[in-house]
Amino acid sequence: MKISVSYLKSKYTIKTTLNKIDLTDADYLHVDVMDGRFVPRKKNQYIEIKDYLKEIKKELDIHLMVEDPLKYILDYKNLKPTYITIQSEIKHDLKDLIYMIKSYGIKVGIALNPLTSIEKIEDYLKDIDQVLILSVNPGAGGQSFKKSVIYKIEILKKLREENGYHYEISVDGGVNIETRKYIKDVDIAVSGSYICESDNFQEKINILRNVK
Ligand code: DX5
Ligand code: ZN
Repeated sequence: MKISVSYLKSKYTIKTTLNKIDLTDADYLHVDVMDGRFVPRKKNQYIEIKDYLKEIKKELDIHLMVEDPLKYILDYKNLKPTYITIQSEIKHDLKDLIYMIKSYGIKVGIALNPLTSIEKIEDYLKDIDQVLILSVNPGAGGQSFKKSVIYKIEILKKLREENGYHYEISVDGGVNIETRKYIKDVDIAVSGSYICESDNFQEKINILRNVK
């Protein structure tokens, strides 16, 4: 299982947190971007964090919790991220956004809020590289994992197998030593406060990966 580390909630400064993540063997740095519209808080605006992110060696996994992703895609593409993930609930035409992200050679993810069903993105599954299952309400780190979303993992695996789709399945929110067991089968686990509020990031990552 690959690990993507979110730094939304950390006991260290942003610079220290990012440096500590960079020293681990995590697969991705998960960047939660919030616009104050799709979710109440504003966080990780490009202008504030671009210089920090340019210093980081980890591959970037950008999660856009924003109502209007256009200008965010135009900004964040400059950091050459591996993934840009957009939310399925926004009013925009997802097809256009998927095409736009791909045109920059960046992999595309679509995120599902806990109450959003898979049917909503069925038409796009063939074209995308990641489905991000949110296991908390978007907008804040440190919330409890919602078991009510687990069923989506099995459905997405089945659809992928039956149709030859290639997306990776990722779960984001409340992932820790207790909840890890519910997501054994996913390709990518996103974890934030469990890692970044601890003294030893690598140790927590090893636990999530189940390395003794
Ligand atoms: C929720 C974010 C998540 C979250 C992860 O809005 O998309 O990435 O902050 O952090 P933890 O692991 O603390 O739930
Ligand atoms: Zn996220």
